[in-house]
Amino acid sequence: MSADQWSPDSWRHKPIHQVPDYPDQQALQAVEQQLAGFPPLVFAGEARKLKKALASVAAGDSFLLQGGDCAESFAEHSADNIRDFFRVFLQMAVVTSFAAASPVVKVGRIAGQFAKPRSSSMEQQGETSLPSYRGDIINGTDFTAESRVPDPRRQIEAYRQSAATLNLLRAFATGGYASLENAHRWMLGFVKDSPLSGRYQELADRITETLAFMRAIGLNPEAHQQLRETEFYTSHEALLLGFEQALTRVDSTTGDHYATSGHMIWIGDRTRQYDHAHVEFCRGVKNPIGLKCGPSLKPDDLLRLIDILNPEDEAGRLTLICRFGYDKVGEHLPGLIRSVKREGRTVVWSCDPMHGNTINAAGGYKTRPFERVMGEIRNFFAVHQLEGTHAGGVHLEMTGKNVTECLGGAREISELDLHDRYHTHCDPRLNAEQSIEVAFLIAELLKAERAGKPAVIRAAE
Ligand code: PEP
Ligand code: CO
Repeated sequence: MSADQWSPDSWRHKPIHQVPDYPDQQALQAVEQQLAGFPPLVFAGEARKLKKALASVAAGDSFLLQGGDCAESFAEHSADNIRDFFRVFLQMAVVTSFAAASPVVKVGRIAGQFAKPRSSSMEQQGETSLPSYRGDIINGTDFTAESRVPDPRRQIEAYRQSAATLNLLRAFATGGYASLENAHRWMLGFVKDSPLSGRYQELADRITETLAFMRAIGLNPEAHQQLRETEFYTSHEALLLGFEQALTRVDSTTGDHYATSGHMIWIGDRTRQYDHAHVEFCRGVKNPIGLKCGPSLKPDDLLRLIDILNPEDEAGRLTLICRFGYDKVGEHLPGLIRSVKREGRTVVWSCDPMHGNTINAAGGYKTRPFERVMGEIRNFFAVHQLEGTHAGGVHLEMTGKNVTECLGGAREISELDLHDRYHTHCDPRLNAEQSIEVAFLIAELLKAERAGKPAVIRAAE
């Protein structure tokens, strides 16, 4: 096979980081074979539809809202959790699309977000050192030698959970729950005394008024699918390549390969070396691809990756998910934007305001100050405004539950509150209220972008 030829397993001939050390290779192969015979989780046609929607983001005509758990967990797989997440996501989308009059492309970090890259392969607690937790698809969180052994059977469980989650999401999206007429009802279950509820209520009232007007002129949800249903897509980091390969299928209409584990997959900041396995795998599947761009990414390396991942400059194919840290956006983003513009490449620019803003708080909690999360989003928009490009989207770690994992927000969560409801299996997530607060900020910034308001980059808090 020539060096250039791609196949679903050509990544196996490349250097690779972040691979679990499976003790039983035969058991691993048996699982991969079993997965290869399972039905696809998503269809190629859906991935193409998402690519088209992302092309409109790249053109500056819509906004990408992507978010969900840092890591999904087997233990927290319940209808309640999925519903609460979906409801907050809908609320955020409605705030953005209604308040900023911008179409929103909705992509969850869900139904497949199970594998985690780790900065250290071992975890030390006291005198004991054990392999790090790498996500429920690989090993367990318990700090015992047994639980930390990578177990291939977990891949079957991750597939099962993804299928069940996706099934419920599809029902929510098309079965009536997502109808705009429910914008008020989505508030039920949302904390009544929330400092944000007044603001949301006001918006929901305006939607109800608008719907009543539309009904009066003959546009009703019964007859118009757009009012009654929503399009919701899934995404995850394509980290565990054996699993991804097993779920890669040839699309019968086009003859192209698609990853059918989710609509969109992304490459993490730690595994984006242009000549390594993760880039190799992703270049050959036709799904929309995300690429995490951290502070160490140089403009020339980015252009090289764009050439590999999107050689035909297909609109909607590539989303650059920038995660620099609130105080580093001004230093890193302009150079990347200018190179991409100079080469005339088409990309979606998205902002992950989570991964560059993680700090350690008292009590050993990993947390993220909400002000820094908001600050990174503001600076991202400001840089785009100054460069004349579209701030196309955000990528959030969030949950529908009222957790206490990120500091601050309308409810001013303090370091002392963190232990209250700190439930994440990996990184700290925005809770429901903080997520909606972000959506209000995005709406404001999108309106300012459209009005061409002068932008300021803030280097520090
Ligand atoms: C993540 O999105 O959970 C993640 C690990 O991000 P990054 O690759 O940007 O560090
Ligand atoms: Co994370």
